[in-house]
Amino acid sequence: MTVSTDLPQILVIDDEVGPRESLRMLLKPDYQVHTADCVEAGMKLLKEKQPDTIVMDIRMPGITGIDGLRKIREIDPHLSVIMLTGFGALETAKEALRLGANDYISKPFDAGEMRDIIGRNVERTRLHRTSEHAAAEVKELNNRLRKELARKERLASLGQASAEFVHDLGNPLTIVWGYVQLLAKKLERSENGGATHNATSIKELNIIEQNVRLCRELLTMWQSYGSAEALPHKQISVSTVLREVIKAVDALATQSGVDLQSNICEHACTVLGDPVQIKRAIQNVIINAVQACAERKGSVLVTCTQKEFYVDIRIEDDGSGITPTQISRIFDPYFTTKQGKSGTGLGLYITQKVLEDHNGSIKVDSTPGRRTTFTIRLPLVNS
Ligand SMILES: Nc1ncnc2c1ncn2[C@@H]1O[C@H](COP(=O)(O)OP(=O)(O)OP(=O)(O)O)[C@@H](O)[C@H]1O
Ligand SMILES: [Mg+2]
Repeated sequence: MTVSTDLPQILVIDDEVGPRESLRMLLKPDYQVHTADCVEAGMKLLKEKQPDTIVMDIRMPGITGIDGLRKIREIDPHLSVIMLTGFGALETAKEALRLGANDYISKPFDAGEMRDIIGRNVERTRLHRTSEHAAAEVKELNNRLRKELARKERLASLGQASAEFVHDLGNPLTIVWGYVQLLAKKLERSENGGATHNATSIKELNIIEQNVRLCRELLTMWQSYGSAEALPHKQISVSTVLREVIKAVDALATQSGVDLQSNICEHACTVLGDPVQIKRAIQNVIINAVQACAERKGSVLVTCTQKEFYVDIRIEDDGSGITPTQISRIFDPYFTTKQGKSGTGLGLYITQKVLEDHNGSIKVDSTPGRRTTFTIRLPLVNS
């Protein structure tokens, strides 16, 4: 509920024009006054204007003030309501108080007394709304804190588990890397010696070697994660990184029947950063795009454009698209729609974090069932 800081609002409900208009004249200098000549019209104004106090006649033809009071209490139990009673109608006034009116004043009323009563009641409503507002804010803050804490706890336990995992994975990876290099050298030698060989095997081995190296670099980075000193950023070419990523993802695209096309800027598009991090950030988005259109054998287009101060990388696919509800969650850790298909839901979370660390950004635009475009923006290095 919003608390207005403008003039307080008073709603006057009275079927007689005389008291209605005299109240309007009396209150106009200090309040915004709305008037209604019956309960129905009053209820409409109550919903529209959210007044701070209602002044209502008890005796009205049709729906009486007492019935009106019941209706008001159903809508807003805490809004101040002052009843206007006929002279000497003490019993009706008491009934109104019993039914939840906050005050009453007899007609004909004294102007000073009316101003006092209205002043007190406006303050009463406003105080109540402010405390309600503060309570709602505290509740909302509490909820956000609780969610944040739960997320942090999950991440902390994952951190613990992955530290062990990283340690165990490091050794076999090193061995594989060594053997891959050995094999590549043997193949090269046999080619030079004129032996028949398969040229594509060398290319494929190179890609394996490159990616195993990437795994090793990722592991080193994980192991230094949390240490006080972050690695210093260096100048890297986004165009080069992009070409490497596309080469690496190409096998996955071919295997999935997805047409992966690219149009990469011929400039270097130099940014300051950590090449391993940038690579994994971009790779996550391209792999997602390939996965999103694997089922319908669609296509993915990756473009890279250099502007005056930044470079934009667009990853467009004509895959499944993302619904608005999902879009609000895709950057949350562990959000995935690929349960049971190896998705951890950490890809875009990591990408966003890396881009933030590099003063960059990521945006998404999607039509469910049709297409999705992710745009990654990174600031160019000052030349
Ligand atoms: N191009 C896309 N088209 C449709 N949905 C997408 C696309 N990119 C991301 N998503 C949605 O965002 C979710 C989160 O993506 P994210 O990369 O964080 O995790 P994941 O791909 O599910 O798992 P992981 O990356 O760990 O393998 C995906 O599960 C998918 O629902
Ligand atoms: Mg992913």
